[in-house]
Amino acid sequence: MADDTTDTKSSNQMWGGRFASGPDAIMEEINASIGFDKKLFAQDIRGSIAHATMLAHQGIISADDKDKIVHGLNTILSEIESGNFEFSRQLEDIHMNVEARLATLIGPAAGRLHTARSRNDQVALDFRLWVKEELQKTEQMLTGLIAAFLDRAEEHAESVMPGFTHLQTAQPVTFGHHCMAYVEMFGRDRARVRHAIEHLDESPIGAAALAGTGYPIDRHMTAKALGFREPTRNSIDTVSDRDFAIEFLSIAAIAGMHLSRLAEEIVIWSTPQFGFVRLSDAFSTGSSIMPQKKNPDAAELVRAKTGRINGSLVALLTIMKGLPLAYSKDMQEDKEQVFDAADSLELAIAAMTGMVRDMTVNTARMKAAAGSGYSTATDLADWLVREAGLPFRDAHHVTGRAVALAESKGCDLAELPLSDLQAIHADITDKVYDVLTVEASVASRKSFGGTAPSEVRRQIAFWRARN
Ligand code: ARG
Repeated sequence: MADDTTDTKSSNQMWGGRFASGPDAIMEEINASIGFDKKLFAQDIRGSIAHATMLAHQGIISADDKDKIVHGLNTILSEIESGNFEFSRQLEDIHMNVEARLATLIGPAAGRLHTARSRNDQVALDFRLWVKEELQKTEQMLTGLIAAFLDRAEEHAESVMPGFTHLQTAQPVTFGHHCMAYVEMFGRDRARVRHAIEHLDESPIGAAALAGTGYPIDRHMTAKALGFREPTRNSIDTVSDRDFAIEFLSIAAIAGMHLSRLAEEIVIWSTPQFGFVRLSDAFSTGSSIMPQKKNPDAAELVRAKTGRINGSLVALLTIMKGLPLAYSKDMQEDKEQVFDAADSLELAIAAMTGMVRDMTVNTARMKAAAGSGYSTATDLADWLVREAGLPFRDAHHVTGRAVALAESKGCDLAELPLSDLQAIHADITDKVYDVLTVEASVASRKSFGGTAPSEVRRQIAFWRARN
C-alpha cells in the first residue's frame, strides 16, 4: 500500500502506477497542451456527461456514481466559466485537468468516468465538436457577408464601372455585377462549410484507444446525445483521423483567398488615383505624419491574415502526412493551427462585412473611368457585325483602327466625328453613337449571367431566395 502511494506526488496521478518519477521539466513543457486545449473545456465536459450517462444506462457504472460524476462535471463547468478553475500544466491537458478536479470534488467515483474510453477518442470528440461549432459560426458569418453584398448590389445594379482584365480597362460592367461576383465566391465557401459539417457529423467517442472496447457500450446513444448523425464506423480511423480539421483549414484558406482578393480591390479602389470607394472612418486609419492620409489598414490586414491561414493548412497537412495509424502525439499540434486560423477567418469576415456595408461608392468617378480606355471598343466591333454584316475578325480590325485614331487625337471613341469613322469604314452611320456609351454597352449584355442591370437583378433575386 505504501508503495502504491509514495510516488503519486512526483509521478503522474493518471498513470503513476508504472512510473517511478515525474517528467523532466523540458518533457513537461513539450508535452503539455493545457495552454491551448483548455479552449475545449465545454466540449470535454459535454462529452464526459454523455459518456457517463451512457455507461450508467448500459449498467457499466451505477446510477449513483453517474449522478455524482454529472454533478461534479457541471460544477467544474461553472468553475471554469467563472474563472475559478486552476489549470495545471503538470496535468498536461484539458482531459486530465477536468478529471483530476472531478476526483477532488467527488472522490473515487471520478475514477469510473474513464471506463471504456481513452484520451484518444476523447480528444477526437472534443475537437470535432469544437470544429463543428466553428463551422456553424462561419456559415452564419458568410451569410452576413453575402447579405451585405446583396444590399450593395441592389443599390448599384445600374452603376457603371470599368470591368478589368489584366487590371487593364476591358469592358464596362456595373458595380452591382461586380458585387455579385463576390456573392458567388462566398456562396461557394458557404456550400463547402455546409458540406464539411455534414462530413464530420459522426461521433468518435467509444472508439477508445484504437480498438474499441469490451464493455457493452452504446455508441449510437452517445452520438445522439451529442448531436451527431451517427457514430464513426472504424475505431482505428476514428482516433487517427484529423480530416475534419484539415477540411476546416482548406475551406478557411479558400475563403481567405477570396477575402484577400476583395481586400486587394478595396486597397486599389480607395487610392486617390482610382477613387472608386471611400472607406468609412470606422474602417480606416490615419497617418501619424501625413495628415491627408486615410489608410485601408483593415483591408491590408485581411489580405495578410490569409497568409497565416495558408500557413496553418500547410502545417497540419505536414504534421499528418507521415503518421502511421492510429494516434500519435504529433496530432496534439493540430489545435493551435485550427484555433489561430479560426480567429483569423472570423476577424477577416467581420472586418470585410463592415467595410462593404460602410464604404461610400463614388459612382461618378466609376462612370468616368468606365468610359475611358476605349472600353466600348467591343461594342463598336459588335455593331459592325450586326449592322454592317462584317465578320467579327474584320470588325475587330476596323475597330482597332478607330481606337488608334482616337488615341492619336487624344479623344474617346464617341468623340470621333462621323467623317473620321466613315473614312475607316464607309458603312458606319451615326446610329453607331448609340452603342458607344457605357450605359448602352452595359444594357446590351443581357446574356445569362451578364452585366445588364436586368440580369444583375435576376442574380440578386436568385441569391436573396437562398440567403
Ligand atoms: N492532449 C492530447 C492531444 O491533444 C490528448 C490525447 C492524448 N493521448 C495520448 N495517448 N497521449 O492529442
